[in-house]
Amino acid sequence: MSALKILVIPGSLRTGSHNARLAAAAAYEFAQAGVDVTRISLGDFPLPIYDGDLQSKSGVPKHAINLKRMIGAHHGVLIVTPEYNSSVPPLVKNAIDWVTRVQDADEARGQVFREKPFAIAAASEGRLGGTRALAALRLILSACHATVIANQLALSFADQAYDDTDRLKHPADIAALKAMVRQLIDVAQHMM
Ligand SMILES: Cc1cc2nc3c(=O)[nH]c(=O)nc-3n(C[C@H](O)[C@H](O)[C@H](O)COP(=O)(O)O)c2cc1C
Repeated sequence: MSALKILVIPGSLRTGSHNARLAAAAAYEFAQAGVDVTRISLGDFPLPIYDGDLQSKSGVPKHAINLKRMIGAHHGVLIVTPEYNSSVPPLVKNAIDWVTRVQDADEARGQVFREKPFAIAAASEGRLGGTRALAALRLILSACHATVIANQLALSFADQAYDDTDRLKHPADIAALKAMVRQLIDVAQHMM
């Protein structure tokens, strides 16, 4: 069996992003578990806001195709999303929308979502830790027929969640992160 490859996608480009920081902590856990982990920035896949006229005129942008193929090259995906007004930010939704428009040869549309598990996490300075964004993201991915694992992490008070070495410091957060990482690995191995 080939090495398990997991893709980690932070849903924020902001300097000092809490979600990028959580994505880094998750990537560290995957690496500790022996997984071949790739952490990308959506900044490397710049996409216009989805517009059907644009797609009709120019086709799907190459960055959407590249992002879809990046997802396709991994056995499981973790998306770490901010919460904007109780939902996912446009950066995350727009990336998913474009990826759903990519159809490579010999593939059914949306196959890239169906053939591997997804995990979701969020970080916010608020008490709910992005719980509502997770509900929205779970719905979106489920509508794409993705398997979204049950274990998730909503990191509350994200500005106070780390120690000096950038590791999560609260036992409940550490346990939730480890449980999510473990379950994504288990389900991804099962679906390989
Ligand atoms: C437009 C907008 C809406 C927001 N709405 C929420 C919200 O509904 N719930 C929440 O917990 N935080 C909300 N926030 C705060 C974000 O969670 C916070 O800015 C967070 O740091 C963004 O993630 P990042 O640090 O990864 O960039 C909002 C921020 C913005 C800019």
